[in-house]
Amino acid sequence: MKDLFRSLRRAILLFLFLLHSVIANAQDNVATADRAMVATVHPRATDAALKIIADGGNAVDAALTAAITLGVVDGYNSGIGGGCFILIRTPKGQLFAIDGRETAPRKATAEMFYRDGKPDTELSQIGPLASGTPGAVAAYHLAWRKAGKLPWESHFKEAIRIAEDGFEISDRYARLLASRKQIFERFAGSRQLFIRDERTLAGGELLVQKDLARSLKGIAFSGPDYFYRGEVAQRISKWMADNDGVLSGRDLASYKAKLRSPVVSTYRDHTIVGFPPPSSGGIHVAQILNILEMFPVAEYYRSDPAKYTHVVSEAMKLAFADRAYWLGDADFTRVPQGLVSKEYARQLGHRIKLNEALAVESHGLPPARFPARPARHTTHIAVADKQGYWVAMTATVNTSFGSKVVIPATGIIMNNEMDDFALAPGVANAFGLLGSQANRVEPLKRPLSSMSPTIVMKDGQPILTTGAAGGPKIITSVLLGLSRVVDLGMSPADAISTPRFHHQWSPDRLYMERSNDERLIESMKKVGHQVYLSGSAGVSQMIYRDLRTGEFTGVSDPRTAGKAAGY
Ligand code: GLY
Repeated sequence: MKDLFRSLRRAILLFLFLLHSVIANAQDNVATADRAMVATVHPRATDAALKIIADGGNAVDAALTAAITLGVVDGYNSGIGGGCFILIRTPKGQLFAIDGRETAPRKATAEMFYRDGKPDTELSQIGPLASGTPGAVAAYHLAWRKAGKLPWESHFKEAIRIAEDGFEISDRYARLLASRKQIFERFAGSRQLFIRDERTLAGGELLVQKDLARSLKGIAFSGPDYFYRGEVAQRISKWMADNDGVLSGRDLASYKAKLRSPVVSTYRDHTIVGFPPPSSGGIHVAQILNILEMFPVAEYYRSDPAKYTHVVSEAMKLAFADRAYWLGDADFTRVPQGLVSKEYARQLGHRIKLNEALAVESHGLPPARFPARPARHTTHIAVADKQGYWVAMTATVNTSFGSKVVIPATGIIMNNEMDDFALAPGVANAFGLLGSQANRVEPLKRPLSSMSPTIVMKDGQPILTTGAAGGPKIITSVLLGLSRVVDLGMSPADAISTPRFHHQWSPDRLYMERSNDERLIESMKKVGHQVYLSGSAGVSQMIYRDLRTGEFTGVSDPRTAGKAAGY
């Protein structure tokens, strides 16, 4: 009887799911639903994740399914050759911050990125030295052990099917491939996967990934050891050894995803749960919000949006000056906890002038400087369900196609996360970010990240999960999303779609999306900001739950062709 009831329930859920797929409207990036919600940057990943919920899984199962599927259909952004941060809240209120960030290989040194005595970022961005030891598979497995419900292998089913049958690549995917053709030609595995008849695949052509399907099957049926100690590990370490890389079988065999303590802070009457180092996101989102708390930003926005934009930009600038100096992997460097104190935020906030852009020469001096050690790229997945599982997961291979290396016979695109270390003082990484000793290359250290998976609670109940892609623009996209919902009362769809701005201290520029109002842009110039007009500043997903009605609203950033869906 029980079994019959269970099968019936599953059939009804599946029917609802199929119904949803049929009536999905043209505006795929916003959806509302009562039971569960998924928002990702690719419709195939959203659909696979939703299906696993209909099959009886929870939001954690769905997030893992989305991540594994994205590694197939959106492999230039994320995949098993990269890393991720997963923030989970369970129905009992437990919080898990799972760190699957890549680690520097044991033999890594800063000097290996020098050519003719000078740091050369091509070496940290392309080829064998660019990759850290991938952490994604270990993190997925840890998340599944902590809070997953369905069997491990079920999360891989759709990804394996798409990898075997192929999928039509988008025009955007094709453009990214074409612009990197010369680099792919240097690496046999990449050449074989992406180049046919001397040209890269065009939009609408099928990308079939049989090798990747085999790797995924091995991980699905033999577990993470297949990746870290088995066939995949052998192929990666052999390729690295043959190509003067330093990533070894020992690095892979000893990789561990870590459970960390989330950064928990408050903003007005909300609790903000962010990701701790080696992410810089949790700390700086909290720090910027703490600064904003000193100002009546909602009133500013209503009376003069330029005043709001200016104050938020100044808070961003001050926080990024601290990021460049203080932040690194907390297992190697002592990151001051005072960075997120309200008292320190007040010190910084008092420096902000309402009618003039600050010249910020250097980082600040937060209290408790040395406390005991606290116990077109990247993608963000947001999932929530009615049971009370909430997930914010950001995953990446770093810049598009990571190191551009596909390891032969595995289909795996290797990350170039080593570029997120500070190679030397004054040497900017691919995102123009500077760093200090705190983020220098050291064996087994994790490079500093801006990935900012965030969960927000009100009155003890989760109400929002969000995060973004976009290098340092991740932090500011998340921050703006939160401030727009909490301070300005915007709907989640407006909070995500409204044009963004970004300041990262160095270079001293206020990046503003071109779609910003011209008058706002002119006002920013007038108060002394060096305005730099940019294309999209971050790609963010958000799920919001109305505590009164229980309804979820999911938003996939309209800056890309993603999908939010629920049922
Ligand atoms: N790879 C970009 C980041 O982690 O910030």
